[in-house]
Amino acid sequence: MKTTALRGDMFHEATRILESPLYSSLVAMRRDLHQHPELSWQETRTAEKVCAYLDELGVSYRRGVAGTGIVAEFPGGNGGPFIALRADLDALPILEETGLPFASQVPGAMHACGHDAHTTMLLGAASLLAQDRELPAPVRLIFQPAEEFGEGAPAMIEAGVLDNVALIFGGHVDRHFPVGSIAVTDGPVNASSDSFTIRITGRGGHAARPHETVDAVIVGSLIVMALQTIVSREVNPSHPSVVTVGHFDAGTAANVIAGQALLEGSIRAQENSVRLALHRSIERIAKAICQMHGADLEFSIGQGTPPLCNPPEGARVARLAAAAAVGEGNVARMDMASMGGEDFSYYLEHVPGCYVRFGTARDGVEQFPAHSSRFVIDEEALAVGAAFFHAVAKVAGQSIHQVAP
Ligand code: NI
Repeated sequence: MKTTALRGDMFHEATRILESPLYSSLVAMRRDLHQHPELSWQETRTAEKVCAYLDELGVSYRRGVAGTGIVAEFPGGNGGPFIALRADLDALPILEETGLPFASQVPGAMHACGHDAHTTMLLGAASLLAQDRELPAPVRLIFQPAEEFGEGAPAMIEAGVLDNVALIFGGHVDRHFPVGSIAVTDGPVNASSDSFTIRITGRGGHAARPHETVDAVIVGSLIVMALQTIVSREVNPSHPSVVTVGHFDAGTAANVIAGQALLEGSIRAQENSVRLALHRSIERIAKAICQMHGADLEFSIGQGTPPLCNPPEGARVARLAAAAAVGEGNVARMDMASMGGEDFSYYLEHVPGCYVRFGTARDGVEQFPAHSSRFVIDEEALAVGAAFFHAVAKVAGQSIHQVAP
């Protein structure tokens, strides 16, 4: 028997999967996906693999949903509202440096965020759901493209995947928790991720005759410094937020005063009210400084993913399911939300549910962050994810019948 990080004296579903032939099929699937990563909106081979696995199980599905997405359904209950479970399919433009025997065979593409694991977990759940004759509610599996662009979830919603859905669940691998554990957290777990663009037009001229110019480098620099006061002076310090200027482009030569400057940056917040306040403050400050120096401003916000906040009822159901999958002693919670974005937040704008974390750390194994070229996971998390998704489909299905008359 394989050693496992799963503790406790109860025999949980994840432990049962680890000891079954299903586990080896999941490891093989995950390694295959890992070797053949595909970037956002290009997940055609990945979709092929998902469909082939579902075909083998005899599960009906729709493919080509919002491009490369796939939606599979399992009947249950009285055909009432669905419980939806979501995985993401895409990889990142990173050159893999893990040295794994099943490392990426595609130069410049890598599953460095664990979406290969998420897809495999959901296929594991499909295998368990296909054998389960007593589902309290129908279940819909959503295999979504382009999470890394923050575009896949809204496209899938547009394609109708949330029609007649009561609750939705998803999860992400996480090196901050030991393998065998699931973190279920009420409230904020991921930040919103928006961008801004500031174009300053002054008047260029000779470096020796500044009085004839409006120097866009000076105006841009003042804006960069003034933006630092938003998070430090305007936002309540107990509400995490970030304003980063990541790109500043101006000027052409040492002896020329720049007439134009371009600033681009990233905005993160865990609450919608803070998110909107940050947007307004950045524009206000940029406008005022341009006006003060006689420069013109073009300002725009690039709307990205909203904050991801787990509602209490979704977290309650997820916690029960996590306990069934790995035992209560292995159910954790996040102490702090991530300032990274996650497009699962779009689904939660429409229906309640919960986004959880599957631990992948093991003592003695060095952990690299997601989006690192050396990112690795502990594969026993595949059994945990499959067990969780199966369990949450059942617990959530029962819970909607308790609420509905
Ligand atoms: Ni990810």
